[in-house]
Amino acid sequence: MQQQLVDNYQRRFQYLRLSLTELCNFRCQYCLPNGYQPNRAHQFLTLNEIANIANVFSDLGVQKIRLTGGEPTLRRDFADIIMLLAKQASIKEIAVTTNGDRLLNRITQWQQAGLTALNVSIDSFSPARFALITGENKLHQVLAGIDRALEIGMQKVKINTVLMKGLTDGLNEYLPWIKDRRVDLRFIELMETGEGSAHFNRFHLSGTEIEQQLVAQGWQLMDKDKLAGPAKVYQHRDYQGRVGLIMPYSKNFCQSCNRLRVSSIGKLHYCLFGDSAIDLRDLLQDSSQQALLKARILASLRIKPETHFLHQHHAGITPNLSYIGG
Ligand code: GTP
Ligand code: 5AD
Ligand code: SF4
Repeated sequence: MQQQLVDNYQRRFQYLRLSLTELCNFRCQYCLPNGYQPNRAHQFLTLNEIANIANVFSDLGVQKIRLTGGEPTLRRDFADIIMLLAKQASIKEIAVTTNGDRLLNRITQWQQAGLTALNVSIDSFSPARFALITGENKLHQVLAGIDRALEIGMQKVKINTVLMKGLTDGLNEYLPWIKDRRVDLRFIELMETGEGSAHFNRFHLSGTEIEQQLVAQGWQLMDKDKLAGPAKVYQHRDYQGRVGLIMPYSKNFCQSCNRLRVSSIGKLHYCLFGDSAIDLRDLLQDSSQQALLKARILASLRIKPETHFLHQHHAGITPNLSYIGG
């Protein structure tokens, strides 16, 4: 029987987040605080290494791969990477998390290459505030890119909005946009990163207030699919889109953890928080090492922690998200 990725707490991992680069052309306050510079000495995974990762994880039952970064679409071989993943019969979903800068011109090409799902960061629907948060005055361009994706029939489109005290607009600034669009809008609690403690202390905002407002406006919590990730999802009969809440500091968040992460330098991270990681790179060089690679991955799952315990000590630090890929 095919070996599966299951940890000591009976969580099953069919979802891999693969980071392609640490580099990004935006400067989002929460992600690259204080102008943090990615480590340019890092050599990012090659196409061949990515192929070996895809082979081994699909062999272990992974069905969904999300390409992350940094900004994954900055890679010149981005469409080739999608095509390479699309050749894996067992990979049913190929997703990307992007700042949306290149969407308008490239989404058709990516969809033809095999991309099936799209998550785009939009922290504000006010152009000035979008520019303040990201360092780029590109809200209209990004929104046009999302509309293009919908026009060409992308079925799974989500928007990520990081909650920030004093910067996040009222709910009613966001909701009209999803009234007639089948897009999931997800509010994400700000997470504390290595370089971002001061930012975190100043801007962290709990998702519970937004949740209460949604409920008061008639939004209803949807049942969770067994394999769904940690987001809580709400729906409303007057809206085509849905609203999700990602609240990593809440209790039980980790119970539904369904994902593993490989960084852009080939380290397997089994939790977003904490810096423990297993280096896979020496086994990614040629396909004859697949059996060893598989054994290393399976062994590492035995030490995946049950939770980050953040709901108990509240504070907790994850490596910078442009490094680990969110
Ligand atoms: P789907 O694949 O569509 O379920 O979305 P996703 O939430 O996994 O992907 P996305 O890259 O859009 O995630 C948005 C952000 O949510 C990430 O960058 C993280 O900040 C946060 N996030 C996603 N998964 C986790 C997780 O397992 N733990 C924590 N703490 N945060 C997560
Ligand atoms: N806290 C929460 N989310 C973050 N992201 C990046 N940095 C942080 C952080 N410190 C998320 C945003 C963005 C995605 C690429 O990463 O959701 O959409
Ligand atoms: Fe999974 Fe770690 Fe995120 Fe918890 S913090 S949901 S264990 S990746």
